[in-house]
Amino acid sequence: MKIAVFVSGKGTNLRALIKAGREGKLGAAGIALVLSDKQHAPALKHAEEAGIRTVVLEKEKGVTREQYDSLILEVLKKELIDAVVLAGFMRILGPRVVKEYDQKILNIHPSLLPSFKGGRGIEESYEHGVKITGVTVHFVDNDLDGGPIILQEAVAVDEGDSLEVLERKIHEAEHRVYPKAVALLASGRLKIKGRKVKILSE
Ligand code: GRF
Repeated sequence: MKIAVFVSGKGTNLRALIKAGREGKLGAAGIALVLSDKQHAPALKHAEEAGIRTVVLEKEKGVTREQYDSLILEVLKKELIDAVVLAGFMRILGPRVVKEYDQKILNIHPSLLPSFKGGRGIEESYEHGVKITGVTVHFVDNDLDGGPIILQEAVAVDEGDSLEVLERKIHEAEHRVYPKAVALLASGRLKIKGRKVKILSE
């Protein structure tokens, strides 16, 4: 299964996926492409160092969401990509991309969904004073951060944890969970029924 990882920022999840791939932990998935909407995303360095093809697709002014989606689809089709893994991609994919890659797009979110959706999941859970938070890998549909949940890992907020400590714990959990979810997808072990994702045994 040829996957494209979409990034906008640091790329620590991309790095974890690359490492998992090297260690044979991504199952039948291979990272064929890294796509960034930011030319200077540090994530691109990780891809280049690993010898993975990169594409930068910045959304220029005047380009509509639909046109941008077409550009994305063009790249994905040209590279014969089977599945898309969002790893800190700061854009919302439009309905056309979601439809073309139905049940083939994953996202990772730094909270236990459906709590704390949106771009500030870690800060908002911390400010809210939750004692348990975590990470969620889910399928992407047209409902932002709302697609069927594949895997979650809980993270405790311990007495005295600063926001920085919590961020570190969350990222560590993400780096454990995301490769597992990608491997499950690639081995055809995820079956969606309504809102529920059943994980088939090997
Ligand atoms: C992660 O916290 C992920 O949950 C969120 O964006 C962040 C990306 O971090 N969607 P990185 O670029 O992988 O380091």
